[in-house]
Amino acid sequence: MSNVVSKEVQLARRPEGMPKLEDFQVKEVDIAAPGDGEVLVRNIWMSVDPYMRGRMYDRESYVPPFQIGAPLEGGAIGQVIASNSDKAAVGDYVQSMLGWREYFVAKGEEVQKVDTSSGVPIQAFLGTLGMPGMTAYAGLLRIGELKDGETVFVSAASGAVGAIVCQIAKAKGCFVVGTAGSDEKCKWLEETAGIDKAINYKTCGDLTEAVRAAAPKGVDVYFENVGGEHLTAALENMRPMGRLAMCGMISQYNDTEPKPGPSNLIYMVGKSLKMQGFIVSNHFDLLPDFIRDMTKWIGEGKIKWEETVEDGIERAPNAFLNLFTGGNMGKMLVKVGPDKAI
Ligand SMILES: NC(=O)c1ccc[n+]([C@@H]2O[C@H](COP(=O)([O-])OP(=O)(O)OC[C@H]3O[C@@H](n4cnc5c(N)ncnc54)[C@H](OP(=O)(O)O)[C@@H]3O)[C@@H](O)[C@H]2O)c1
Repeated sequence: MSNVVSKEVQLARRPEGMPKLEDFQVKEVDIAAPGDGEVLVRNIWMSVDPYMRGRMYDRESYVPPFQIGAPLEGGAIGQVIASNSDKAAVGDYVQSMLGWREYFVAKGEEVQKVDTSSGVPIQAFLGTLGMPGMTAYAGLLRIGELKDGETVFVSAASGAVGAIVCQIAKAKGCFVVGTAGSDEKCKWLEETAGIDKAINYKTCGDLTEAVRAAAPKGVDVYFENVGGEHLTAALENMRPMGRLAMCGMISQYNDTEPKPGPSNLIYMVGKSLKMQGFIVSNHFDLLPDFIRDMTKWIGEGKIKWEETVEDGIERAPNAFLNLFTGGNMGKMLVKVGPDKAI
């Protein structure tokens, strides 16, 4: 044993519909001492992501389901506090998929060193400079085939992915319309992220008409994060030859019955639209381009972001639930340990 006791968040039972706090349990576990080739890491930040809801169903998908009584997994950044590996030394900051716990032991190959030299806050590697930023980049530029100066419509526009989509599009000289679930989020989108029109989808009335009023010439690229009424509104407003980049449909992740598709899918034909779903991990070949462009845009002040931080591993389930009620502004994170673990 390493004499380290770690709290971890486990799945207590599979959620039915909207997840509840009782679906999770926090347990203390003893952490083994690192063996040959292994590192002991104390996590500092962990990422909370909507896709984890899909892993709570007992079904095959592009990632295996979580098991009841086992810790959840997700992106995390921590510091190596003991090492028997030549891949990472004591004191190194490392990224892993072993979040939702305070400490862990893993093979050196299972963690990736984080380059802290740029001075960007380390947790940005879970957001703007990490998986959500990469999702925005690959989804908008490769799947959406964005061209400079086009009109872009983004749903969940103030979130971790959406806010970066909006600002990449602005950096490319596009006209950008986004939706969000509060006036405060809409104000941030227009005044800080610099988009052309933010729509509060909860108070705007007919969403199709609100998008039409915001983008009267129509939409060239729709970046889909929400599904349902948003997809119907997008299809209605697409211009001929438009592209729909299908990133996520959070409004349907807790559905207990399949929903009917949009009633206006027929526009795909008449407007010659292209709709393509994607999973970011299939586009990691773009990583060097993403890091180059994102670092440049951040340096030029073109990309801003917000974080919502819950404090302590026990708060991780609350953070997860808040994703489905709009309780986060920007990237949802949990601070699970001190900035310097050693
Ligand atoms: N394809 C991929 O590889 C990939 C990778 C990462 C993320 N994603 C997807 O990208 C989307 C955004 O993820 P994220 O990490 O950036 O999360 P996020 O946008 O930071 O957080 C989720 C947001 O979704 C909105 N929302 C929740 N329920 C909603 C509903 N019923 N109707 C409308 N809006 C709702 C809420 O904002 P409001 O206040 O605006 O309602 C909430 O803040 C998700 O669909 C996620 O699954 C896909």
